[in-house]
Amino acid sequence: MIGRPGMQQLTDALGGRIAFGGDYNPEQWPESTWAEDVALMQQAGVNLVTVAVFSWALIEVEPGRFTFGWLDRVLDLLHDGGIAVDLATATASPPPWFTANHPETRLVDEQGLARSFGARQGFCPSSPLYRDAAADLAGRIAERYAEHPAVVLWHINNEYGCQNWQCYCEVSADAFRRWLHGRYESLDALNDAWGTAFWSQHYTDWAQIPAPRRVAYSTFANPGMRLDWWRFSSDELLECYRAEAAAVRERAPQPLTTNFMGMRKTHDYWSWTADLDLISNDHYLMAEDAANHQDLAMTADLLRSLAGGHPWLLMEHSTSAVNWQTRNLAKAPGEMRRNSLQHVARGADGVLFFQWRQSRAGAEKWHSALLPHTGTDTKIWREVVELGHDLAKISELAGTLPDPARVAILFDWSSWWAAELDAHPSSDVKVRPAVRRWHQSLWKRNVAVDFARHGQDLSDYRVVVVPVQYLMSDPAAAALTSFVEDGGHLVVTYFSGLVDEHDRVRLGGYPGALRNLLGVRIEEFFPLAARATVRLSRFGPGRVWSELGRAESAEVLATYDEGPVAGSPVVTRNRVGRGTAWYVGTEIDDDARTALLRLVLDEGGVTPVLPDLPAGVEAVRRRSPDASYLFVLNHTGEDVTVEAAGTDLLTRMAANRLQVPAGGAAVLREARAATGGPRREAAPPPAPEPRH
Ligand code: GAL
Repeated sequence: MIGRPGMQQLTDALGGRIAFGGDYNPEQWPESTWAEDVALMQQAGVNLVTVAVFSWALIEVEPGRFTFGWLDRVLDLLHDGGIAVDLATATASPPPWFTANHPETRLVDEQGLARSFGARQGFCPSSPLYRDAAADLAGRIAERYAEHPAVVLWHINNEYGCQNWQCYCEVSADAFRRWLHGRYESLDALNDAWGTAFWSQHYTDWAQIPAPRRVAYSTFANPGMRLDWWRFSSDELLECYRAEAAAVRERAPQPLTTNFMGMRKTHDYWSWTADLDLISNDHYLMAEDAANHQDLAMTADLLRSLAGGHPWLLMEHSTSAVNWQTRNLAKAPGEMRRNSLQHVARGADGVLFFQWRQSRAGAEKWHSALLPHTGTDTKIWREVVELGHDLAKISELAGTLPDPARVAILFDWSSWWAAELDAHPSSDVKVRPAVRRWHQSLWKRNVAVDFARHGQDLSDYRVVVVPVQYLMSDPAAAALTSFVEDGGHLVVTYFSGLVDEHDRVRLGGYPGALRNLLGVRIEEFFPLAARATVRLSRFGPGRVWSELGRAESAEVLATYDEGPVAGSPVVTRNRVGRGTAWYVGTEIDDDARTALLRLVLDEGGVTPVLPDLPAGVEAVRRRSPDASYLFVLNHTGEDVTVEAAGTDLLTRMAANRLQVPAGGAAVLREARAATGGPRREAAPPPAPEPRH
């Protein structure tokens, strides 16, 4: 994992401070406002801005004619003002002349229709014309600014695949065939993997394989093909990143990143991390989700896990409302500060926003910013300035490690893609909501949680949860078996372990790859009708799913109590080696999940960060070898008192009991380092990657 060194380099370049700022788009404003921008940035304590994300059209005004003058002046001005720059390669949206000259680079949808120019990111990720042009521009920008003292980080493209995650044009279809050739080498292997004997799909020439556009009415394209299409599409975006990254690395010494989009279905981010010097993410709350702070926690946990447990950078979030939801609710007073500190608690060493100055025109003019339309005499601006001060007060945290988790949730994108293909027993089985429910139950108990990849060594954990991990390779199943044999406690839900990496069913009894480990044998699925429930002897009711089967070696803790599968086991526990493997064969409610997890966590000896916190109060720790920092985030409407001793870095008050106001947050340097100490050693600063 290259995550930490890049983040550390960035922190060092910022003088050890937590990064604070956002996207800065000066090209949207007359040059006369730029000096005011810098002055206000200084007032707010901004120390890092991302520049030139969407500037291609104003940098390369026509093919091969570059106008860098304005960007030179912006960077000089920022540097003179003490503001560092995350410089973008400006390639996220090709200019009108590019699309007009190369209409074949337009994105083509599943129906085969080319999408029009007029928004952003409308290019085909497989287009060599686009990739070459983007790498060329990235190289020129790197060449020009590699030694500019303002530049501390490179921002490659922007949110790859946000709007163009899959393209179905003929260039993409060709690239897909090449990708398949690389993966399978022979058509025999491909035919076998995709099960093409079914429905007369046997391929005899690579050229016969299409991009999986819309097929005949009321039917389904080959699932193996569709699963590979998801993989291919994620890989193609990564190749776009690699082309630009190579052009920048050749010329510039600063670390590189591209901003991820959290737990989003379109990208297998596990496969991206090794190419980034630091892991960065954009996170936007769904405003009408009453538990959106838990979604934030889950995303931040995923990001920290992608960063190998090390600090990462929050590249974008919003000061208040966004503009792209159905109802763009504004953030309540204090909410933006609490969101920001929550990200820091879970490992972010930077808090950046989209964007610095709220746009006057264009599609995002109603999206909040650090500096609103209405100026500095505003709630938003006052909160921005306050946040800048708060982050400065907790600067000593930068570079400390989030407290190691003893619990992990197993999570894999291929499995997600395969689980939600068509023609399955129930379309009510959805991966992200299932993962979120298990994370939420752990979050409510204030237990630190990581995300783990399929197949990774799990020996750092005491408890591993496997929610709806439908696809499971042999190595992934073997890693779970070793984990349990060595004393770990595993919880597996329904619709897990059923198929191999090609989406072929594992025969002989469900749940396939995990049947022996769980000690159950399921023979038939009985998915439930919409909104139906099924009574269980314990942990009930069940929703979404039920199944007919029997326990083989497992102890039955609960059975279905009614209907066609009455008497079948639903919650079981199998002792294997020194550990236990639990199975939960239906969707249980929150209270039951909490009760079940309490049993498993107790068996695993996993304790919460702080015991007995009121519901809605979150506690998270970060540590250095000689200090321990406790974040307490009060997501409720009531003031709370928490038993914890130390100095609140935000108020500078020492206390034995911490008062946290409604909606507020506290960051305590604890009086005594909490027991345990960091297990994950801080990595020594590694030798820089060879760049030249
Ligand atoms: C992100 C994007 C930004 C801005 C923001 C609005 O997807 O990177 O440029 O559009 O969303 O929420």
